[in-house]
Amino acid sequence: MDQYIIKGGNPLVGEVEIGGAKNAALAILAAAIMTDDTVRLENLPDVNDINVLLEAIGGIGAKVERVDRHTAVINGSTIGDISVDYEYIKKIRASYYLLGALLGKYKKAEVPLPGGCNIGSRPIDLHLKGFRALGATVDIKYGAIVASAPDGLHGTHIFMDTVSVGATINIMMAASMAKGNTIIENAAKEPHVVDTANFLNSMGANIKGAGTDVIRIRGVEMLHSTNYSIVPDMIEAGTYMFAAAATRGDIVIKNVIPKHLEAITAKLEEIGCEVEEFDDAVRVISAKKLRRTHVKTLPYPGYPTDMQPQIAVALALASGTSIVTESIFENRFKYADELTRMGACVKVEGNTAIIDGVDKLTGARVSAPDLRAGAALVIAGLAAEGITIVDDIVYIQRGYEDFEGKLKSLGAEIERVTSEKEIQKFKLRIG
Ligand code: EPZ
Repeated sequence: MDQYIIKGGNPLVGEVEIGGAKNAALAILAAAIMTDDTVRLENLPDVNDINVLLEAIGGIGAKVERVDRHTAVINGSTIGDISVDYEYIKKIRASYYLLGALLGKYKKAEVPLPGGCNIGSRPIDLHLKGFRALGATVDIKYGAIVASAPDGLHGTHIFMDTVSVGATINIMMAASMAKGNTIIENAAKEPHVVDTANFLNSMGANIKGAGTDVIRIRGVEMLHSTNYSIVPDMIEAGTYMFAAAATRGDIVIKNVIPKHLEAITAKLEEIGCEVEEFDDAVRVISAKKLRRTHVKTLPYPGYPTDMQPQIAVALALASGTSIVTESIFENRFKYADELTRMGACVKVEGNTAIIDGVDKLTGARVSAPDLRAGAALVIAGLAAEGITIVDDIVYIQRGYEDFEGKLKSLGAEIERVTSEKEIQKFKLRIG
């Protein structure tokens, strides 16, 4: 099992380039099969989840050509199967985007029911409710969602009970090829929702209002070819911004959209970091002891839940008591015990973590419980005194491209190792 071994204590300094957004690319890859023409996608992040979805799309018969690490050409005209294999959804929930895409294009789809994951139960009732409102019959049979609309889908008015990124995108995809107009109210406003709408519009869809809480869609019969470049990843960017904060570093994070990072920037300034914004970059300077703050995760443009573990690590090193409230997922403090192993003082009560800042963290052996918490534990290891070993980094590789390479370029002492021998070699090398 791959692990990271880290010698902490070096402030991270330099420049890092951000890749395409995983959560936009997953939706856009699914939507790419909604036309029989060829679609070229650029700025795809080279991370495991993307590779799995490309396999799933190939698995239902689409032509998939990986031009290079960040570019793929897809042609959905050869799709012969509307049922997605369980092995894919088992690996990534976002395979459920094939439901909206196949239902929109073929008026039928069969996708295994995604299970929960480490951060919460994650039901998909809103997705299914939306498809039913568009006129599809949706049943759960033999562990799969079987949806069909032999007479076609028809536009309607959908009010989302909860703000859901996945349900907004899935319904938007299906509605873009329904007869008539659809209105989605209380829609999610995340940049990846907007990027998916822009992608669909570049294929000839008619979607207005993405990025606001009311999305209006006029269905079209056909979609056509397009070349599209994925939006930069705000969560990858935010992760490096907090790596600068926790290691007392100075990093320029390039190829970002600063507007997408406003909630993250605001919290960094609150805890005492300096943040400079440029057209497509931000610079984070962390020169002094961090200050405490309170944060509550919210749908965009609020503070993102995918940035919750990262701020918690910084607050573990701040002066005073901070409160972190998780309002989106019910089980997203699994890293707290691991952080406590490193000397942090974190008390979790329900959906709140009370963090009393300490002067320093010390290295330990910890396990990544999920993608974002894994990245946060790596930041903790970089800020800590001594050696940290992070297990289960397979979670981190799902969503961060070349994590250790980029961190090394910023002066981090980190290595991905696969054996005890390599661990000993690292320890010898750093003396
Ligand atoms: C997306 O998940 C992201 N995943 C998550 O990022 C992110 O944490 C989340 O949005 C929130 O921003 C992808 O884009 C692939 P939701 P999603 O539907 O769509 C409840 C990462 O680290 N809900 O917005 O699954 C749900 O339980 C991942 O990259 C229902 O009740 O999230 C949650 O409490 C982790 N019924 C809330 O809504 C539904 O049908 C928000 O979930 C759907 C959701």
